Amino acid sequence: MDFIQQKDLSRLNTLGLKSLARNYISLCNKKDLTGISGLLKPGVPYFILGGGSNVVLSEQVDQIVVHNQLKGICLVRESDTDWLVEAAAGEIWHDFVVYCTQQGWYGLENLALIPGTVGAAPVQNIGAYGVEVKDRLDSVVAYDPLTQTERIFNNEQCRFAYRDSIFKHEDGKGLIITAVRFRLPKQWVPVLSYPDLQQYEGLQSGLAAQAVLDAVCEIRRRKLPDPKVTGNAGSFFKNPIVSAQHYWQLKEQFPGIVAYEQPNNSYKLAAGWMIDQCGWKGRQLGNAGVHARQALVIINTGNACAADIIAIAKAIAGDVRQKFGVSLEPEPVFVGTGF
Ligand code: FAD
Ligand code: EPU
Repeated sequence: MDFIQQKDLSRLNTLGLKSLARNYISLCNKKDLTGISGLLKPGVPYFILGGGSNVVLSEQVDQIVVHNQLKGICLVRESDTDWLVEAAAGEIWHDFVVYCTQQGWYGLENLALIPGTVGAAPVQNIGAYGVEVKDRLDSVVAYDPLTQTERIFNNEQCRFAYRDSIFKHEDGKGLIITAVRFRLPKQWVPVLSYPDLQQYEGLQSGLAAQAVLDAVCEIRRRKLPDPKVTGNAGSFFKNPIVSAQHYWQLKEQFPGIVAYEQPNNSYKLAAGWMIDQCGWKGRQLGNAGVHARQALVIINTGNACAADIIAIAKAIAGDVRQKFGVSLEPEPVFVGTGF
């Protein structure tokens, strides 16, 4: 366990925001957990950092930052029907997806190239190209630093929803996820329902998982900025979910509106389309801007701090509210600041 004061976090968040942590602990070994809980006493604010790809960090972070870097992947067991694979929380998500695919443990390929760590994947139930992590997750192993106990959550107990889980709410927030177990079916069925995959030339059902993984990576590289080159946190807003009645009203007024019908008869609106219609694509405000190929992505145009990102995000959300009467909710987690 490394304990560092005044730790620079600007390279530990993909938005590349200037940020300094008053107190920083790196968690590299499960044995460190007891020592860490000695520091995380009730009432002492702390924050668990993974790959920093879904956070907006303030310039000065006063919470103790616990940086999860636990490593290790193993096949727990194999049955006639599936593989049960466990990965430590600090494993890099994309590397884990590639490793599983190479081993013949298929099912995660639609989630390739999502930045960040395995431990953060269940927190917002990461999703892309027709699959969410909840569709492949068996259970989550978490450590409660306040009671110094390990807790295991099965899929149902994680209370997954669109970009949501128990780990974002009162009864799960603050738990340190140390490992995640995935149940990957031996009978692999490609998921090619997402429009981008349907339109992707050369992809038809029956193809190998590696081909799906490659296609997803190519589509993502076309649309999304590489955080190593341009600071960003992926989609900055969640796609808002509205009632069928609200959707049909909007559809009448804006026939081009993009939406996906949900199983409970509600509709998920494409926030990117609405932001695009407000003319934000490629625009800049202060040290932040909107990506030229995906209006849902806010970028650091150079030297941005949290205030720059918040200013542009508020301006965007204000315009969408004015034009469409729809509220946008940010996807990233704000640390030491709010929205
Ligand atoms: P961080 O940003 O470090 O943390 C995010 C949240 O998880 C925080 O609340 C943190 O406290 C919590 N957390 C992290 N690790 C732990 C742990 N071990 N225990 C408990 N809590 C923890 N997301 C999608 O869903 N789909 C996408 O397609 C997608 N595409 C993206 C593309 C780009 C270019 C970028 C930059 C981001 C994208 N994201 C996407 C968002 C992001 O990659 C995911 O949310 C990812 O899971 C965040 O992982 P992280 O390790 O970076 O978490
Ligand atoms: N669109 C526009 N203009 C834009 C952006 C999008 O018109 O500038 C339209 C597209 O043409 C498309 C629709 O909006 O018809 C949806 O766009 P896209 O397929 O790119 O998906 P998204 O809704 O913008 C969501 C996730 C992404 C995920 C992709 C693929 C959210 C908030 N975002 O984006 O996740 O990778 O679908 O499944 O749900 C993330 O969470 O960080 C993230 C990148």
